Formats: sequence, C-alpha cells, structure tokens
Amino acid sequence: MKSKNWINRQKNDRFVKKAKLLGYVNRAAFKLEEIEQKYKIIVNSREILELGSSPGGWTQVILNYNTKSNVTCFDLLDMKINNQNITFYREDFLKYDFSILKRKFDLVLSDVAPNTTGHQSTDHLRISQLIYDIIDRLEIILKNKGSFIFKIWKGEEEREIIKTLKRIFDKVEYFKPKSSRQESSEIFIISRGFKLDE
Ligand SMILES: C[S@@+](CC[C@H](N)C(=O)[O-])C[C@H]1O[C@@H](n2cnc3c(N)ncnc32)[C@H](O)[C@@H]1O
Repeated sequence: MKSKNWINRQKNDRFVKKAKLLGYVNRAAFKLEEIEQKYKIIVNSREILELGSSPGGWTQVILNYNTKSNVTCFDLLDMKINNQNITFYREDFLKYDFSILKRKFDLVLSDVAPNTTGHQSTDHLRISQLIYDIIDRLEIILKNKGSFIFKIWKGEEEREIIKTLKRIFDKVEYFKPKSSRQESSEIFIISRGFKLDE
C-alpha cells in the first residue's frame, strides 16, 4: 500500500483510535482480545510462549487477561513494552534451540509474519513455511493438552496445515476477528488439546 494511503487509513481506523485510547501499542491487540473473549484460553494458561511478539500489543492483552502468566517472547525486533512477567529473546526463533529452556508451555501463540512481497501466493507460502516450522517444534515446546493459536494468510497450503493439526490436536477451528480488516486474507487458527505422545 502507498504510504499516503496507509497514513489515511490509520487516521480513520476506529481500532487505531481505540488502541491509542486504551494504551495498546497497536491495533493487533484487539485481534487477540477477540480470540480470548471467545475461547478463554489465556486466562487458563500460566506459561505462554509468543512468537513474533513485537512491538507487544498481544503481550499487553495477555497480561491484562492473566496477571499471573509468565510470557516468553521472541522477535527479531525490540518490544515496546516491559513487565516483570515478560522474558524477551531478541532472536530468530528458527535458530533458537528451545530444548535449552527445559520447560514447556500451556499456550503457544504466533503472530509471526515474514516480510511481504505483495504477491499473495508467495506471501502465503512464506508464512505457511513458518507455521510448519513451529509445528515441527511443538513436541518440545507445548505441554500435553496445550493450545496453539496462530495467524496465517489464506491460501493453498492451509488445508494441508489444518489436516496436520487435526491429527495432533483434539479441536481445530478458524477465527476471523472483527478487528481484522475484511480485505485482509489473514485468519487465525485455534488448536486446542495437543495430543503429545509421551
Ligand atoms: C505482525 S508482527 C507481530 C505483532 C505482535 N503480535 C503485536 O501484537 O505487537 C510480526 C512480527 O514477527 C516477527 N518475526 C518475523 N519472523 C520472525 C522470526 N523468524 N523470528 C522472530 N520473530 C519474527 C517480526 O519481526 C514482527 O515483529
């Protein structure tokens, strides 16, 4: 999008205005808020791993809904928020050896987004690859019965991803928050009840 159009859209967007009013660092916060209002997963999760956490809108929502949660965040960029319950790793999660954390999480969240090319199917394939990379790590990062919530841009790989998830989770659902722009191909997948073979 041309930068002038982007600025105009931001100025008129009611979620951008609401984010400013409520002290959220971005409008992305409302997407997770809507997910939480429907599924109530954060409130029941003590150990939370967030991949693609910066600048921190989702983290703010996590801490609002569960003040007792410990949030482990990974991003290539710095966070704009700080809190004693946050442990932040400025790292490429793909290069990180999660086994050294020696613990697992009740909830894994991913809002990870690759740099976009503007070519829809290329961008879809890139984000799909990141999701497969996370799925490959679930065994070492997610507790049995845990949840995995992530963003994807819709496209051809999505059915295969859902098929894979249905084998390893009890429940897999789609969710499109009202705060996600209608014209955006982004959709959120809510996977609950991880079936870890122990
Ligand atoms: C849409 S933003 C996340 C917004 C965040 N959920 C929030 O509410 O503030 C996507 C983030 O994914 C991060 N990212 C992309 N690839 C990554 C990788 N391999 N490792 C860690 N972070 C990554 C980007 O740096 C970017 O900050």
